[in-house]
Amino acid sequence: MKMQISPSVMCVDFFELKEAIAVFEQEGIEYIHVDIMDGHFVPNFTLGTDFIKQLKKHTFIPMDIHLMVERPEEKLSWIDFGKGDYIAVHCEATPHLHKALSAIKERGAKAMAVLNPGTPIAALENVLDLLDGVLVMTVNPGFAGQKLIESTLEKITALREYLDKKGYSHVEIECDGNVSFENAKRMKEAGANIFVGGTSSVFSKEATIEENIKKMRAIIK
Ligand code: DX5
Ligand code: ZN
Repeated sequence: MKMQISPSVMCVDFFELKEAIAVFEQEGIEYIHVDIMDGHFVPNFTLGTDFIKQLKKHTFIPMDIHLMVERPEEKLSWIDFGKGDYIAVHCEATPHLHKALSAIKERGAKAMAVLNPGTPIAALENVLDLLDGVLVMTVNPGFAGQKLIESTLEKITALREYLDKKGYSHVEIECDGNVSFENAKRMKEAGANIFVGGTSSVFSKEATIEENIKKMRAIIK
């Protein structure tokens, strides 16, 4: 499976966004991870629908939109997405997971279901045929800069086995939260293939974004 990097744009210094995007394009970044929060499903607020619209005008890189909002199926019409983009909805955020994922597929985008650290893999059982990817939260969502919840590594391993056994080996596994250089290696070994780069890797202040991306590539290749 192709190893991909999805930098979390909420972690960028917004005054350097233009330069950051130029580096993403130059380095062949596969997706831009956009965190949308509603202050209910998670306590925080971050980026919004207008931000996505703007971003789409300035880059050809597909978006990986992580919706941390309640009832995401009611909000999809607000969001500018289409073919090539990933839209991720949390299993815990709606009683209508099937409806939400179906609506994403109908618009030609790739559908992803998200599992919080406390949510079991079984939550995916009845939507497997709608999935292009599963996002395993490796921290509780809402804030950058948190510490990896170790048990989520076993969940990635179990999920890869579960998907393969059920005939869904094409379904990708993304991990989000404290995907540091050290943790990315372990997440890859566990079976993940899309890595959300946040404050602990792509946007680490210890080197430039370009150097960090190159380092991440070498680790996950
Ligand atoms: C967590 C967010 C992540 C986060 C990742 O809710 O979805 O995108 O910004 O960054 P770090 O590496 O700081 O955990
Ligand atoms: Zn995210």
